[in-house]
Amino acid sequence: MKILGIETSCDETAAAIVVDGKTLLSNVVASSMDLHAAYGGVVPEIAARSHIESIIPVIEQSLEEAKLDWQAIDGIAVTYGAGLGGSLLIGVITARTLAIIKNKPLYKVNHVEGHIYANFLTETTLSGYNLPEKQPEFPMLGLIVSGGHSQLVFFENHFKYKLLGQTRDDAIGEAFDKVAKIIGLPYPGGPNIAKAALKGNPLAYQLPKARLKEKYDFSFSGIKTAVLRLSQSIIGEDYNFPSIKLSERLNDAQKADIAASFRRVAIETIVDKTVLAFNEFKPKSVVIGGGVASDQELRNQLSKRLPIDIKYTDPKLCTDNGAMIAALGCYQAAHQINLADPYCLSIKPNLSM
Ligand code: KG4
Ligand code: ZN
Repeated sequence: MKILGIETSCDETAAAIVVDGKTLLSNVVASSMDLHAAYGGVVPEIAARSHIESIIPVIEQSLEEAKLDWQAIDGIAVTYGAGLGGSLLIGVITARTLAIIKNKPLYKVNHVEGHIYANFLTETTLSGYNLPEKQPEFPMLGLIVSGGHSQLVFFENHFKYKLLGQTRDDAIGEAFDKVAKIIGLPYPGGPNIAKAALKGNPLAYQLPKARLKEKYDFSFSGIKTAVLRLSQSIIGEDYNFPSIKLSERLNDAQKADIAASFRRVAIETIVDKTVLAFNEFKPKSVVIGGGVASDQELRNQLSKRLPIDIKYTDPKLCTDNGAMIAALGCYQAAHQINLADPYCLSIKPNLSM
């Protein structure tokens, strides 16, 4: 079963082909990130416009890279939520049109669930991918940490899962992006904070971890404000000092210490809850997905604190991509789940798990 996956929920236009939910034949990603960097975050209108420009070339390239023609494709899987409305529309309309003219079944995919399925890819014909040797076993604990989501999900099996907890406010990736902005690092915040943190002391500053009544829920807006107040106090100003002017008054060593301290505490917060859930639900495997899942500090802390050996996937499959959508699409096709009508599939920007 060969599935073409299409992903356009945010600023990446992506298409990939996966066989039987485990073999990656192609993975093409065109990002409009550079266009957004000047604004310090994703601008929805710019993202949608660049999906329009890139979607057809990206899909054509994914077929070329896989050395396949349309006849070999058994179905199309497309992200229909969650995400930015304008961005989702381009992927969904393209997938619907292709499903009709190429006469292929169409599967609608939940983006957040897709992040988990990147971990099921264990083989590839492509070079430059470091994939786990074995697929994860059920029961499985999934941690999704991206720019839009922070969720802990317990999977008894494919499509049998329970959402244990999620963020009440900002997602962890969003907190990385906002903290980066405060200390003058470019978008996206995650990799830039990680780079700056390498030169800093992670114990330089104490920052708060949110305490919530629901034990598996997260909150990251408090730590973001704490970083703002900390930065103001380091330069001897009070809370009235404009955040936009902070970065010019902080020196590189102070920025590195703030980045390292924030990264340590933010990552510790999600690892604490993952360990708690692991002890309660005793899964056979733990998988992580979403942009922040490529963070080495997260991988180190999890490996240190969990009693099982975790096989992490390639960082290229943690940020948004079509491979995760194609992988989940294969399982949906095999279980005949989420088959969509190509004449009327609509987007669901607020889709949850
Ligand atoms: O999964 P993703 O590509 O898009 C969403 O679905 O949101 O995640 C993007 C987020 C951004 O907030 C970015 O700052 C963060 O993931 N990110 C990282 C890294 N690469 C991207 N965070 C930490 N370390 C990274 N290497
Ligand atoms: Zn994502």
